[in-house]
Amino acid sequence: MSAMDAAKRSWPAPSAGRVPLWVYSDPDVYALEQERVFAGPTWNYVGLEVEIPNPGDYRRTFIGEKSVVVTRTKDGAVHCFLNKCTHRGVEFCRTDCGNARNFMCPYHQWVFDLKGNLIGVPFRKGVKGQGGMPEDFDFKDHPARPLKVEVVNGVIFASFDHDVPPFKDYLGESMYHYFTRVFDGRGLRLLGHERQDIPCNWKLMQENIKDPYHASLLHVFLVTFGLFRADQKSEVKLDPSGAHAVLVSRKGEQKAGEGLEEMASFKADYALKDPRLLDPVKEFPDANTVIMQTIFPNLIVQQQSNTLATRQIIPKGPNNFELYWTFFGYENDDEAMVTRRLRQANLMGPAGLVSVDDGEVLEFTQNGARPHPGDLAVMEMGGHDHADTDHMVTEAAIRGFYEHYARVMGFKREGA
Ligand code: FES
Ligand SMILES: [Fe+2]
Repeated sequence: MSAMDAAKRSWPAPSAGRVPLWVYSDPDVYALEQERVFAGPTWNYVGLEVEIPNPGDYRRTFIGEKSVVVTRTKDGAVHCFLNKCTHRGVEFCRTDCGNARNFMCPYHQWVFDLKGNLIGVPFRKGVKGQGGMPEDFDFKDHPARPLKVEVVNGVIFASFDHDVPPFKDYLGESMYHYFTRVFDGRGLRLLGHERQDIPCNWKLMQENIKDPYHASLLHVFLVTFGLFRADQKSEVKLDPSGAHAVLVSRKGEQKAGEGLEEMASFKADYALKDPRLLDPVKEFPDANTVIMQTIFPNLIVQQQSNTLATRQIIPKGPNNFELYWTFFGYENDDEAMVTRRLRQANLMGPAGLVSVDDGEVLEFTQNGARPHPGDLAVMEMGGHDHADTDHMVTEAAIRGFYEHYARVMGFKREGA
């Protein structure tokens, strides 16, 4: 099978609320995703402006498997271009971040400026009258491929498709509202990065953050200390396409209540040795304490108490991805707030008191599903549709994701 054959696949019936396990491991499906999802009309997160504050600053990152460079030029503008030499394909930017006047390919030393324009080719005119590029060779014809860029309140998105709609339309009104709750235009303060390799398909990460149902069952920490629990006031909201979603919740008191007896992870006798780990202060106008937003295809925006982070999904083959966490606060945070955010960041990241469970269970999912590509996963909690709900006992946001994903990939939905 090839990627083109993969495009002819159909989703086995009954299709609503069922996901064929081949989506997690088929290499041809994965190859097709690189074109239709990551290089298609999508906005991909590539970093925060605060990571490249000065002219010449750059960041190397990935959209799908493709390496890209994000730069700031002298005029303050942000650019993004493919990290692939137009001579013979070398990934010319060799470091994750830094400051540069230009980029020189290590192989034959072609030079690209901060916008990706080709500005130098050694031996262009030959040596001692011999060799050299043909007369009609024009630098202008060989820039590193430019991507379209939109900077939204300090967050940088890029797209291979120059006809992609503006980010605000791409997200839809309600999702844009939640995005600008945290990215409200205030200057950001970078607090640090963490990175993690998870041996599973990238879509399982999107599913995990669209799945409020698991949080009350899998996570001892969330359930026991009441950070995110099925008996709390909560909502799941999606954009009309199903592509993007938010899980919204308000922290409750730790007490026995309806449904709690089914949460085996609730440990009534657990207490924190240092309660400062959970000392959230209200900082947004609404009363919500957790908002987890998933933006198709590669971004999660985490707002858990006062720990704020972006999580970038970087696929590394059908069976692996890298999760790149960027923790941040605001420019005007006082030192107490910075310390609070950092302390609460212990919940998150590869060894986080909460998220460590997710990394492990996602690996179990991949290992369990991989040998059975012909089987179906059942995602029917809360029904078959993907409408908004005012509770978290639902898989509606995952159903929405696969509605959208199947459409983007061109899969036929049998019986949909
Ligand atoms: S491959 Fe980059 S200069 Fe030759
Ligand atoms: Fe989780």
